[in-house]
Amino acid sequence: MKNIVLFASGSGSNVENIVQHFQESTNVTIAMVLTNKRDAKVLDRCNRLNIRSLYFNRTAFQHTDCVLDLLKSVKPDLIVLAGFLWKIPEKIIRAFPNKIINIHPALLPKYGGKGMYGDNVHKAVKEQGETETGITIHYVNENYDEGAIIHQAKTKVTSNDKVEDIASKVHALEYEHFPKVIEQLLVGL
Ligand code: GRF
Repeated sequence: MKNIVLFASGSGSNVENIVQHFQESTNVTIAMVLTNKRDAKVLDRCNRLNIRSLYFNRTAFQHTDCVLDLLKSVKPDLIVLAGFLWKIPEKIIRAFPNKIINIHPALLPKYGGKGMYGDNVHKAVKEQGETETGITIHYVNENYDEGAIIHQAKTKVTSNDKVEDIASKVHALEYEHFPKVIEQLLVGL
């Protein structure tokens, strides 16, 4: 059985989609969901879905080995960031080389980097008059949004699209592609 640990900071609709994708799986299981937001909606989803979830604070994550040791004990085959907003400490990246992936709601290297998350990304895409946007699934390294790209998918943007229209097109791509890419990575291990 392959183990996934998910990190999320917000709503967790991708987490729910991934959990549902692997619900009947006989070779992939969601070990737990970790969040840095005590009141994140993702925690309600985990309770409803019967998935173990834990909240951690900045001290546990960055200033002690609390989260690192937890991850080491779980031994995940893949760590998946699904809307997780804190930078991953180097000690965690070093402990899990090529095992941490992220999804970014744009076509990197465009619209990446600090501050480029959520609707900020879609606003920038609209302001620049882009005719397409999409998703990027990539490995996580020490710099925001700069690890090797694993998979990208595109969608068209029209001048009539509002920020929320772009967001929903991108979310649809995330739901379609993210679980499949995770599955392929795990099968390839
Ligand atoms: C997604 O758009 C993802 O690409 C980004 O954060 C968002 C998370 O949405 N990194 P949700 O919490 O899964 O609904």
